[in-house]
Amino acid sequence: MSVHDEQKRAAARRALELVEPGMLLGIGSGTTARFFIEALGERVAEGLRVSAVATSRESEELARRLGIVVVDDPLQPIDLAVDGADEIDPQLRLIKGHGGALFREKLVASSARRFIVIADASKLARRLGQTFVPVEILPFLWRQTARRLAGLGADVRLRAGQDTPYVTDNGNFILDLTFTGGIEDPEGVAAAIKATTGVLEHGLFLGLATGAIVAEVEGLRILGSLS
Ligand code: A5P
Repeated sequence: MSVHDEQKRAAARRALELVEPGMLLGIGSGTTARFFIEALGERVAEGLRVSAVATSRESEELARRLGIVVVDDPLQPIDLAVDGADEIDPQLRLIKGHGGALFREKLVASSARRFIVIADASKLARRLGQTFVPVEILPFLWRQTARRLAGLGADVRLRAGQDTPYVTDNGNFILDLTFTGGIEDPEGVAAAIKATTGVLEHGLFLGLATGAIVAEVEGLRILGSLS
């Protein structure tokens, strides 16, 4: 297992300590979230009773395979959501969605009492925008949407799938936006993206994470609060 994977697993195992019997959990997507789901599955096999909302089909299938009860539209709020991130800045602002699941991830994070990010140290960023911001858009007239987003000063690329455009679990396309030099004003950029006709959701997660567990070579670093 690579150092990054070991760090991801260490962060995931720490997050598992926050899980209590009877909780409704939000389970994320991506390689770090996968470690969390696998560890949760072990606890469920030992008798822990929880239920979960999944942020992607892939996570849902994995969870069900491991015996975790997955629900679609629960009546009660989500107690605890645990998910990875692509970038984390010092104010716990995030970029998410490199795996393509950002819309459901944001719905789950926004519906959770606590949203804890788990990550290896490579995800820490002084300023957001070191990579790219994924934006889920309606396929209809997608080139027009892309043109409007390019007007915000971003390099805009349609995400490719195997032969055709990448299609999300919700049947939509993703545009990846790169901002040269990073994003100076994440709130302003988020508001401008969101206000663009054709945009369904974007991967800037601002003011959503309540805490983060970041695994570094020296050990686990906690940002924000885990409680
Ligand atoms: C999935 O859409 C993403 O938001 C992931 O949470 C993010 O890409 C982190 O993925 P890894 O844990 O695989 O790095």
